[in-house]
Amino acid sequence: MHSPIAVIGGAGRTGVIITRRLVEEGHRVRVISRAPERAVLPLGVDRRRADVRYADALGPALRDCAGIVFAVEPGTADSGPHSPETTVYDGVRNVLAAAADGGGRPHVVLVSQIYVTRREHPMNAYGRLLDWRLRGEDEVRASGLPYTVVRPSWLTDGDVAGARVRLEQHDRGDGWVSRKAVAEACVQSLRLPAAGGTTFELYNEPGEEPTDWGPLFDRLVPDRVPAYPGPVR
Ligand SMILES: NC(=O)c1ccc[n+]([C@@H]2O[C@H](COP(=O)([O-])OP(=O)(O)OC[C@H]3O[C@@H](n4cnc5c(N)ncnc54)[C@H](OP(=O)(O)O)[C@@H]3O)[C@@H](O)[C@H]2O)c1
Repeated sequence: MHSPIAVIGGAGRTGVIITRRLVEEGHRVRVISRAPERAVLPLGVDRRRADVRYADALGPALRDCAGIVFAVEPGTADSGPHSPETTVYDGVRNVLAAAADGGGRPHVVLVSQIYVTRREHPMNAYGRLLDWRLRGEDEVRASGLPYTVVRPSWLTDGDVAGARVRLEQHDRGDGWVSRKAVAEACVQSLRLPAAGGTTFELYNEPGEEPTDWGPLFDRLVPDRVPAYPGPVR
C-alpha cells in the first residue's frame, strides 16, 4: 500500500477539494484538523486531530507520509495564539520538524499567498501576516525536504476569472484564482517532478482549464535557496 498524503487544513474549503482529488487519484489521504469529527470528507479518509501550533500531536499524525500539503488559514491578531506567527511560521516549523523526525522525506506543498514579498501591502497590518508567511516559506525552502510553495492570488469559489491557469514568479501581480485551481496545483505538484524546488504565484484568466500541468511547471525557474535565515522574533 502506498504511503499516505497528509492534508493539513484538509477540512477547509480548498483543503477538502485537495482531499477529494487525491482520493480520486488513488492516494491514501490523512486529513489533519483541529476538529476532524466535524469534517465532511470522502469515505476512507483517515482523520487525525492536531493543531499546527502545538508540536506534540503532529509527529504521530504525519508519520510515514509521502507528502504533506499545508493549507492552513492563519489568525490575524498582533500577538498571542491567534496571530499569523503561530500558524504560518511556528506551525510550519512544527510540521517540518515532525516530518523530519519521522525519518522520511515527504514532499511538502505549502499554500502561501501573493504579496508576501510586498511588506508595504495593507494585509501586513494584520499581525505582520505577510512577513510571517514569507518566513514560513523560507523555512520550507531551507528545510532540505522536497517542496513546492504555491502562492494563490485572491481565492474564488467558481471560475469567475476564467479557468485558464497562469503561473508567475517574483510576486509582482494581482488577480483571482479558484480554490479548485489551487487544489489542482497542489495535487499536480505532488505528481510532477518539475514543480519540485519551486515557488510560484497562481492566477486564473479567461480560457480553458489546463488538462496537463507539465508545460506550466516546465517553464518555472527553480528557487535559489537562500542561506538559512534563522528564527526571527
Ligand atoms: N482567502 C484568500 O483570498 C486567500 C488568498 C491566498 C491564499 N489563501 C490561503 O489559502 C489557504 C486555503 O484558504 P481557504 O479559504 O480555502 O481555507 P479555509 O476554508 O479557511 O480553511 C483553512 C483551514 O485551516 C485550518 N486551520 C486553521 N488553524 C489551524 C491550526 N492551528 N492547526 C491546524 N489547522 C488549522 C482549519 O482547519 P480545522 O478548523 O479543521 O482545524 C481550516 O479548515 C489558506 O492558507 C489561506 O490563508 C487565501
